[in-house]
Amino acid sequence: MKPSSIGRKPRRVKAAFIWPFAIVLTFILGAFAVTAYFMEVRVRDRDLAERATAVAKLFDQKLDKDANLMQAVLRTMMDNRAIEAVFASLDRDALIREVGPLFETLRADHRITHLYFDSPGLVNVLRLHSPGEFGDLIERTTMIGARDQGKAVHGLELGPLGTLTFRLVTPWRRSDGILGYLEIGEEIEYLVEEIHDSLSVDLFVLVDKRFMLPQQWHHGLALLNRQGSWDRFGSHVTVAQTAAQVPSALNDSVLASLRAGGTEVFEDGNRVLHLAMLPLVDAGGRRIGDLVVMRDITALQTTFQRSVTAVTMLSLLAGAGVLGLFYFALDRVERDYRRQHDLEHQLLRLGTEHQRILQIEKLSVLGTMVGEIAHQLNNPLVGVVNLAQLAAREADDPARTRELLTEIHRAGEDCHAFIQSMLQFSKVSGFESMPTLMAQVIEETVLLFRQTESRHCLVETRLPEQPVILIVDPILIRHALFNLLLNAAQATVGEGAIVIALERAASPDSGAPGWVLSVTDHGKGIAPDVMDKIFLPFFTTRSDGTGLGLPVVQHVALLHDGAVTASNLPGGGTKFALWLPDREQIGSA
Ligand SMILES: Nc1ncnc2c1ncn2[C@@H]1O[C@H](COP(=O)(O)OP(=O)(O)OP(=O)(O)O)[C@@H](O)[C@H]1O
Ligand SMILES: [Mg+2]
Repeated sequence: MKPSSIGRKPRRVKAAFIWPFAIVLTFILGAFAVTAYFMEVRVRDRDLAERATAVAKLFDQKLDKDANLMQAVLRTMMDNRAIEAVFASLDRDALIREVGPLFETLRADHRITHLYFDSPGLVNVLRLHSPGEFGDLIERTTMIGARDQGKAVHGLELGPLGTLTFRLVTPWRRSDGILGYLEIGEEIEYLVEEIHDSLSVDLFVLVDKRFMLPQQWHHGLALLNRQGSWDRFGSHVTVAQTAAQVPSALNDSVLASLRAGGTEVFEDGNRVLHLAMLPLVDAGGRRIGDLVVMRDITALQTTFQRSVTAVTMLSLLAGAGVLGLFYFALDRVERDYRRQHDLEHQLLRLGTEHQRILQIEKLSVLGTMVGEIAHQLNNPLVGVVNLAQLAAREADDPARTRELLTEIHRAGEDCHAFIQSMLQFSKVSGFESMPTLMAQVIEETVLLFRQTESRHCLVETRLPEQPVILIVDPILIRHALFNLLLNAAQATVGEGAIVIALERAASPDSGAPGWVLSVTDHGKGIAPDVMDKIFLPFFTTRSDGTGLGLPVVQHVALLHDGAVTASNLPGGGTKFALWLPDREQIGSA
């Protein structure tokens, strides 16, 4: 733990992560919503484009079908001898009588609006739909085409009344030459109505004003009982439509954009309209106007908006959920982090406190030590002073003086012995480790113990079969073991043997591999109230003890990165265990 990291404020984990995460999430949701929108627009545009293509196809198909029907009708008429005879006679009343009922049927059932009988010189003989008009020269593209090609020709053509008509003209041939021309036609309104019914789209037929005069158009409007305004658009005018009204938003600029090939969406009241355009080409191949295809996409748009809203809401909800979960997870992390930070702070405070207490403890131990040393030396010295005074007073009596001098000598010896044991203790600070055969160290110590200890206690050693070599200072280990043996002997009252054992054991603190050198006796044991004091320097329960034996053992253990523990045995007696690490090399101190 670095002190510098403790003074710092704990980092705000939540703030550091939640904002970038929220920004990324918002960006993803935004991208999702925009993509959904554009996909929907593409689907909508494609749908209208497909419908516009379908309109164009259906328009062509209907014209083909109607052309076939018209051709069939005219062929039937040309096969009719009676009609042929009256046409050849140019008797208009007889022709009306002969063909009139057929035309009425065609008008009622097949929406045929025009039927002409024309002479080989293209002069009109009879208009069945307007019998009062006749005798005029007809020079429309279809008529000229039929004459020049000598076969049936059909196509869209603008009529004099501003109506757009699908016409078919065919020459009536006889063995002796051309009898004349038959022309049949239908108004475009019927066609667009059919397409409107089939494809559910509205159509507006617009014709370029360059191909029509305002008077013609107004005449046609009155004749066909239609609504409309010549000035509604700048360059074009409506000639047919399936919707009741031209939408107000449909103006010249929208038409220009549609003519350029695009599609347009606009709102008209509460409707949403989507428009596309097809070119309108007449029988001569000229683009005479436009066919505007309009689709009401209100329902589609509403569904689309609803689905986009639902998707956005769901995404927002999911995003908020994820953000919430993330927030709570981060909250927990931040709380743990703060707790750890506080703990570290407390630990540091405790460490400082501990150091202070340790210092106080050291001072108090030093005080005790000084007191003890003074006490230990003072008694014999007081004796020396008193005995010396006594000897001086009784100097006349040589026997008494000798006796007193012997006592002075003994007191001096006591001081000397005490100073020696103090010196022994201080020697422990010298430390030199080397590979050491443990069995040998134990054996030598036991031998020394037997020579010095008068009590002749029985000592039993239990060593592993394989030789154990540890990297230790043999002198210090011997010194520690000797002290433990001495204590064991001093505690033993009866016969019990002292057992020295060496066993493999992991460190009780770190679990590191190592060995335990233990000394077990069968003595009186250690009283519980003194158990936690026995390793203090100068603590002793013996009248002649210095209380330095066990501190020496503990010091030796610490120098080897080991530990020493004491425990009372259930059956009486004490076991001291010195744990030593099993490693390659211990650094010299
Ligand atoms: N094997 C033991 N059995 C019971 N008590 C013990 C044993 N070893 C140590 N003690 C207790 O621990 C005390 C401290 O022992 P330590 O060896 O430090 O000092 P000492 O033996 O009293 O004096 P010194 O060893 O300096 O002559 C002893 O006085 C004794 O009360
Ligand atoms: Mg001792």
